[in-house]
Amino acid sequence: MLKHDVVVVGAGLAGQRAALAAIEAGRDVAIVSKLHPLRSHSGAAQGGINAAVGKEDSVDTHVYDTVKGSDYLGDQDAIELFCREAGPTVVEMEHFGTIFSRAPDGSLARRPFGGAGFPRTIYAADRTGLALLQALWEHLGTARFTLYEEWALTSLIVRDGRVQGIVALDRRKGDFAQIGAKAVILATGPFGRVYGRTTNAHSCTGDGVSAAYAAGAALKDMEFVQFHPTALMETAILITEGARGEGGILKNANEERFMSRYAPHVLELASRDVVSRAILTEVLEGRGFPDGSVHLELMHLGKEKVESRLQEICDFARSFAGIDPVTQPIPVYPAQHYMMGGVGTDSHGATNLRGLYAAGEAACVSIHGANRLGGNSLLETLVFGRFAGEAAAAYAESAAAPEVHDADLDASTAPWRAWSSRSDGEDPSTLRTEMQATMDRYVGIYRNEADLLEGLRRIRALKERAKNLRVVDQSRVYNVNLTDALETAHMIALAEVIVVGAYARTESRGAHSRTDYPKRDDARWMKHTVAVRAAEGPQLSYSPVAYTRWEPKERVY
Ligand code: FUM
Repeated sequence: MLKHDVVVVGAGLAGQRAALAAIEAGRDVAIVSKLHPLRSHSGAAQGGINAAVGKEDSVDTHVYDTVKGSDYLGDQDAIELFCREAGPTVVEMEHFGTIFSRAPDGSLARRPFGGAGFPRTIYAADRTGLALLQALWEHLGTARFTLYEEWALTSLIVRDGRVQGIVALDRRKGDFAQIGAKAVILATGPFGRVYGRTTNAHSCTGDGVSAAYAAGAALKDMEFVQFHPTALMETAILITEGARGEGGILKNANEERFMSRYAPHVLELASRDVVSRAILTEVLEGRGFPDGSVHLELMHLGKEKVESRLQEICDFARSFAGIDPVTQPIPVYPAQHYMMGGVGTDSHGATNLRGLYAAGEAACVSIHGANRLGGNSLLETLVFGRFAGEAAAAYAESAAAPEVHDADLDASTAPWRAWSSRSDGEDPSTLRTEMQATMDRYVGIYRNEADLLEGLRRIRALKERAKNLRVVDQSRVYNVNLTDALETAHMIALAEVIVVGAYARTESRGAHSRTDYPKRDDARWMKHTVAVRAAEGPQLSYSPVAYTRWEPKERVY
């Protein structure tokens, strides 16, 4: 029987940082990942990581910007902790070997990002996530731990009210296996693939969040879905906010710099929810280009700046759109990018289930509230990854050994194995495609009651059909059909939680924009949504937002 003190699921920045903290605390640690760690979605983060490090900036300004960006739904105590940890976290990552871009005087270069009152986004050209991921992985290489690579989480083992391990599919062999753990940390990242148009990697299917939900964990603020304003029109590949930070401008088909209508003070550097709505409005009102895009222009910045600071997006635009950003505008349109919601945790990663912790995008602490600021997500992975690792290690030090029995494996995996023995049933990729089309159409940037009800009806029909999934491919080694079925089932469960939360929240706040309730309603809705699983679907309740120093006011950029 496989057993460890702490099992970390997910090997992106949050998972690696959590693992490092638990190893340093002296625990026997395993990392379980369905991908090679360097292929984790953290590596796709382009623009940078926020930290108030210079003399002119301050932690308080970072806190204020984050609170305002969250549309006052972020927990201010957690945000204060988060922003205080930013400087030391960036310095630590530099000491681990991250090669950050430099200002002419040799200090860390910083660029402006949306919704920030100061240029505080530290970066490594436009490959910041990858630079951090490589440095942390190399650093982790000096430590002793077990890596279960190409293992996909299927469920959690809960016994006596306590999480005692995981069940996972070893994709290389095609076997399901149990791993006992005193503590489990979920760092499985986002679930953006519930949408069709997303900047998220194909692996971002919310396996950890779904397994936690199935085991009884409370999910928080799931209706808040971030759409990044600038993704390539055709492929939805991310074009970093750093492009606007470096001076890129947005134009409509009438050659207007239209952001002056929506954010007269900061224009393209308003927060993401504001810029995404602006682009959609321009297109809906007939001022988009014939392909439905608006244009991001970088030409005026000059070849040297564009090619040195924005290397990756130059490659993307040239390879995937046939556009050279040095001489041509880039056609862009918003795409799903980030989930503000996730497994509800305290600031140290603890969930409502004993022995279960979560960090990174899989978790909702909540520091992002209704809208995350760019550059706060890489920081979140490292700060709360470390805290979760430390807390799980401390818990595991005195927790009893996990009780996991070989005999249970057959019963717990019977439903998934049944998919392969059916002679008739639902094709997972068909269900996945229908789910994505439903979420794109009915649960997008602008929402209303009729659309959400129709979206819910369709997602619930898919949930019913998913009870009859069929895996046709009978092979064992790297059975992509089986992985697809498991991921699709995870995502349909999460899609339902998103829609139910969005339907219930009859106000507009941050990224949740209801055309039938266009105003923020602090009297009724200044509260977090909490969803737990019940037989008939997600059961919602609400919990208070933590305040420290910042009174809610109207959010203007
Ligand atoms: O636009 C970007 O580079 C994305 C950054 C982020 O999501 O924090």
